[in-house]
Amino acid sequence: MKIAVLPGDGIGREIINEAIKVLDKVALKYKLKFEFNEGLIGGCAVDEKGRPFPKETLEICKNSDAVLLGAVGGPKWDKNPSNMRPEKGLLELRKSLGVFSNLRPAILFSDLKEASNLKEEVIKDGLDIMIVRELISGAYFGEKKRIDTKDGEKALDTIEYSSYEIERITKRAFEIARKRNKKLTLIDKANVLETSKLWRKIVSKISLDYKDVKLDYMYVDNAAMQLIKDPNQFDVILTENMFGDILSDEASMLTGSLGMLPSASLGKDNAGIYEPIHGSAPDIAGEDKANPIGTIMSVAMMLKYSFGMEKEARDIEKAVETVLNKGYRTSDIYKEGKKLVGTEKMGTLISEEI
Ligand code: IPM
Ligand code: MG
Repeated sequence: MKIAVLPGDGIGREIINEAIKVLDKVALKYKLKFEFNEGLIGGCAVDEKGRPFPKETLEICKNSDAVLLGAVGGPKWDKNPSNMRPEKGLLELRKSLGVFSNLRPAILFSDLKEASNLKEEVIKDGLDIMIVRELISGAYFGEKKRIDTKDGEKALDTIEYSSYEIERITKRAFEIARKRNKKLTLIDKANVLETSKLWRKIVSKISLDYKDVKLDYMYVDNAAMQLIKDPNQFDVILTENMFGDILSDEASMLTGSLGMLPSASLGKDNAGIYEPIHGSAPDIAGEDKANPIGTIMSVAMMLKYSFGMEKEARDIEKAVETVLNKGYRTSDIYKEGKKLVGTEKMGTLISEEI
């Protein structure tokens, strides 16, 4: 199995190292062979190749069975023009691989209840939500413009959605809901946005083919509030690109830390991009402080979704759980009485449990 490895910027390199450590251990245990091919993306690619998503990187990704990504971005490139920003590289990668569905599970490990920002009586038995975010359309990819007018500068971002873009991700979300608790919530802003009205029309039509799944609708402002008030009312959330970006960061905090959440981005075949949902955290880069669990859990998703290795994936999830149960914590999830460890140690502990 060929895996394209794109560490990116900031803490990217450190967390990727730990994810590979874990993969190597899985390979050893199950006598598998992973071939890693590294490429540049983001700010480091701008510095070395003059663009955030170089052709060589695209080639590596296209010739791989899956892509493992760290994070992109940093203050060094913040003033760059839009097409020379690190984030642009990530968006080009997603677009060129056609990964329209971004799965972001928000799971609270039982031992991390005290790390959640919610009270125990709100969290109750835990938390297990799956956010299905549309990833390659909407405001991120719609027409953008800067115009000089007599009143000054004007900027324009367009939210665009075509029915086929909504259909393909909706079907995927229903399939996922079917395998879970058969409950799907479409989150939108249909009281204001035309695109949201189209989403509702298409989702309600497709729901006729999934009568076993209970579908409901919620406006995004209300959803942001409900996630904090009673997160367990949600099972699978389906939403457009920008709402999904925002709500998944919010959901991550319920699980204790942004550093915990993995993601899988899938298109119509098995090849996918796997990355933690957090950013490049330039403030702690190189300090061995980053939490590698989001990336390690992303590798578990890779094994499951791209390679069909359920058992191996479960091994990784269990190893993470065991290490947390033993009280080890990186600084983002640290509480008094626990054992504080760095990025590298956390990766080693997890790989040792496999
Ligand atoms: C994410 C990130 C990206 C996004 C940024 C880095 C472009 O926030 O994966 O959630 O907005 O999609
Ligand atoms: Mg985000």
